[in-house]
Amino acid sequence: MKALILSGGKGTRLRPLTYTGAKQLVPVANKPILWYGIESIVAAGITDIGIIISPETGEEVKAKTGNGDLFGAKITYILQDKPAGLAHAVKVAQPFLGDSPFVMYLGDNLVQSDLRLFLENFHANSLDALTLLCPVANPSAFGVARVDEQGRLLQLIEKPKDPPSNLALVGIYIFSHTIHKAIASIQPSARGELEITDAIQALIEQQRAVEARQIRGWWLDTGKKDDLLEANRVILDTCLEAAIHGEVDGTSQVSGRVQIGKGSRIINSTIRGPVIIGENCHIENCFIGPYSSIANDVTVTNTDLDHSVLLQGAKVLNIHHRIVDSLIGQRAQLKEAPQRPKALRFMIGDDSQIEIS
Ligand code: G1P
Repeated sequence: MKALILSGGKGTRLRPLTYTGAKQLVPVANKPILWYGIESIVAAGITDIGIIISPETGEEVKAKTGNGDLFGAKITYILQDKPAGLAHAVKVAQPFLGDSPFVMYLGDNLVQSDLRLFLENFHANSLDALTLLCPVANPSAFGVARVDEQGRLLQLIEKPKDPPSNLALVGIYIFSHTIHKAIASIQPSARGELEITDAIQALIEQQRAVEARQIRGWWLDTGKKDDLLEANRVILDTCLEAAIHGEVDGTSQVSGRVQIGKGSRIINSTIRGPVIIGENCHIENCFIGPYSSIANDVTVTNTDLDHSVLLQGAKVLNIHHRIVDSLIGQRAQLKEAPQRPKALRFMIGDDSQIEIS
């Protein structure tokens, strides 16, 4: 059994963060989204993993994720030279996949479910495809399944205007080698992509063994700022373990589940978990409230914040408002002007969003 993780694409919805980096590397609770998928695949016993990368962000994904040693896996990087669809990515990966069955995993997905049960199911029933479904409020934004009263899969339709159910295709699939022939039989969709949904539909029409299962627990899309904050909240709520490796001085208070990395200093501050603070951070005269993730090398002084994500190297200095529901990019600086006249001075990247009240 092999795995194929898709980590290409442009991540337009997370701009400006994704101007300078891959959307799959944006961290949730200080860990790249992509790594949650790798860990879940390794936990299911699969260690031969191919990762599809794009020319734009591939080098960054490779440099950060490495050859698999970090995860106890062997990672092979496969370049998809243009974003021509999920089924096109499988085509490009065919030399790596050979005739092996494989799990296909979209690298910007966060799913709570354990993959083992689905793999057992796939093997026990000798399936050609097993798709995972999750009820959603906006099915038109996804691939959607039509199922009968027994929950048997009848049809899959990509982004239907008039969805036959609220069951969306989660970006995780298990395939036998028969998917390659099905992909060879399909044509690009209206958006000009070879859709994996159409290839699975072709298997259904050929009366192949295709089934669907609903996942339990959460499925998080991390495409936009509020989705990312929500993913951060859920992961901190369910996965964070308390561990203090940095220094907390005698005038500070740390309560709830809080993780503080090596070399970080907390001075005269209150940290109320769940909160994760990375390595080599400086936090002084602050209140850091629940559901905040602070990456490595961040400085925050004289500021209150909660339910926010600060990326590596950000500086937030002397802001006398409470910062909430915010996402602050790598090396971004937010500070009070040192002298009068007090005024707002900005240098803000393209597609940034600032709300002043
Ligand atoms: C892709 C699939 C779609 C699936 C979705 C899950 O959509 O084509 O069927 O429901 O991932 O995230 P895309 O993200 O390419 O629009």
